[in-house]
Amino acid sequence: MSERASRRRTRRSPFRRAALIGAALAVMGGLSAIASPTISQASPLPTEVSSGQQLFTKNCASCHGLNGEGVKVNGTVIGPNIQEAGAAAVSFQMSSGRMPMAGQQKQSRRTTNTFSAEEIKAVAEYIGGMGTGPGIPTDSQYSTSGLTAEQIAKGGELFRTNCSACHNYAGKGGALSDGNYAPPLTGTGVTNQEIWEAVRTGPQNMPVFSPTQLSDEDVSTVIAYLSEVNSSSDSGGYSLGGIGPVTEGAAAWIIGIGGLVGFALWIASRGARAR
Ligand code: HEC
Ligand code: HEC
Repeated sequence: MSERASRRRTRRSPFRRAALIGAALAVMGGLSAIASPTISQASPLPTEVSSGQQLFTKNCASCHGLNGEGVKVNGTVIGPNIQEAGAAAVSFQMSSGRMPMAGQQKQSRRTTNTFSAEEIKAVAEYIGGMGTGPGIPTDSQYSTSGLTAEQIAKGGELFRTNCSACHNYAGKGGALSDGNYAPPLTGTGVTNQEIWEAVRTGPQNMPVFSPTQLSDEDVSTVIAYLSEVNSSSDSGGYSLGGIGPVTEGAAAWIIGIGGLVGFALWIASRGARAR
């Protein structure tokens, strides 16, 4: 009873809140100060789990708790419980530079990641070991090699069915309710591994797609489709006003509208001549 009351008092304390925010800011400040890539290549880490734990304690625990149990202050979630998030979620959040989050934000943003691949793996495995969430995928799980044009076209269909409602059908992203947004998936350096991890872990407002909804092969075809959109977006995708550059549907649309405009002009010119 008294323990509970004191816990409540601690949670409400404005000092604790200030200390948390201060700690988070200090971590961020420290990080940006040492953000040179040579740091991460320094002496090899002793063992993945213990160094993962150390990195987590230093960079993440102020918001997620020392054991990933989450932190709440006055009912406000400073960081959610991530014990069941899985290694793939940690890998996604860190490699996309979303975590450690820079102070309180409504939605974490993609930024430049300052951790090495080994450090991310270490933290991911440390958190992954706490629960049953999806693990870091192997290359073969999201490999696009050997996919046929037909399979990639199917990836485009899967993308339009499952993803375009939020990310736009050319992957350019879009606004969601409550001021949230689905980020663009092209032109921002999103990696194939991150696409797999996002699909399986559903960051923030994105749903989780289980392997029964989208198999690894399905995800690979979506990845291949997105790289195709990515590589052709330089060659006119933007100037076409967000119309997916590779889809046959888009071509048909352009030709169709072109035809209608031509027809309208033809009618107009006939009208002018008749007068
Ligand atoms: C300043 C506070 C803060 C710090 C520091 C921070 N996080 Fe977070 N984290 C959040 C918040 C808030 C969310 C939920 C909002 C969101 O996902 O955009 C979140 C979400 C996550 C998620 C997604 C949870 C899920 O269910 O998918 C993971 C994983 C995560 N954080 C891992 C980390 C790791 C690893 C670190 C350290 C490298 C870290 N965080 C540092 C605040 C923080
Ligand atoms: C209900 C809306 C919604 C749907 C449907 C959806 N997403 Fe997302 N997606 C989001 C949001 C919101 C985020 C940003 C999460 C964050 O801020 O942490 C996101 C983030 C991503 C990212 C990370 C991009 C980056 O900048 O790092 C990828 C990759 C992604 N989604 C791929 C997909 C794919 C592939 C599908 C379909 C299989 C899909 N999404 C379906 C809402 C959605």
